[in-house]
Amino acid sequence: MIEVTNIVKKYVTGDIDFTALKGVNLKIQKGEFTSIMGPSGSGKSTFMNILGCLDKMDSGIYMLNGKDVSNLTGNELAAVRNKEIGFVFQAFNLLPRLTILDNVALPMVYAGVPAKERKERAMEALVKVGLGDRVKHKSNEISGGQKQRVAIARAIVNRPNVIMADEPTGNLDTKSTFEIMKIFQDLNDEGSTVVMVTHEPDVAVYTKRIVRFTDGEIITDEAVKDRVRL
Ligand SMILES: Nc1ncnc2c1ncn2[C@@H]1O[C@H](COP(=O)(O)OP(=O)(O)OP(=O)(O)O)[C@@H](O)[C@H]1O
Ligand SMILES: [Mg+2]
Repeated sequence: MIEVTNIVKKYVTGDIDFTALKGVNLKIQKGEFTSIMGPSGSGKSTFMNILGCLDKMDSGIYMLNGKDVSNLTGNELAAVRNKEIGFVFQAFNLLPRLTILDNVALPMVYAGVPAKERKERAMEALVKVGLGDRVKHKSNEISGGQKQRVAIARAIVNRPNVIMADEPTGNLDTKSTFEIMKIFQDLNDEGSTVVMVTHEPDVAVYTKRIVRFTDGEIITDEAVKDRVRL
């Protein structure tokens, strides 16, 4: 599903070149559920943004679902992202003045789905995350845990092959964290490949594999023993 080879990413600030990813190699098969861990500043978000086609790398090869996406333009990457990837952010990134239903329907506008089908599919995704009764609320009228569930509904509405999330439970309390991780586990059981960044070992135990970064490199990559199914 995902295969990256020798990914390098540099940030240039004034005269200073900083190499945030120093030649990263990773393969993720369809149906895996992977945590990306590591200290602050180790390159997790940088890596996730490249995997999510939100940012470009300086060199390396990225094969996503059999397609070489290494050298695409910004617009081409956006198209791949819309089709292949559902991305969930720590800060939810919902549009506050739209209803929950319209937030979830939005990616389908870009995908050219007709209005009636947009509404039906948005509703279906919201029911799946347990928010079928809240669809008329504005997204600033619900709790953080509910916002993240809306964001997951938005991420799955185009039926992506991969769900990616950068610290999706970073702003949530324990109860909401359980709810979100259970939704990811259910989606994974139904066949979605899931990749998520987390700081918390307590959260990583719900996934199946842990890849650890330090200073822009992967230092360990291991299966989760005694995985907890919520
Ligand atoms: N836009 C940018 N310009 C310059 N440097 C950046 C930029 N984004 C990230 N960096 C640097 O790259 C390194 C990796 O950052 P990244 O955000 O990927 O870390 P992270 O592992 O996600 O950290 P955290 O756990 O705090 O979210 C850091 O040293 C950071 O300062
Ligand atoms: Mg980060």
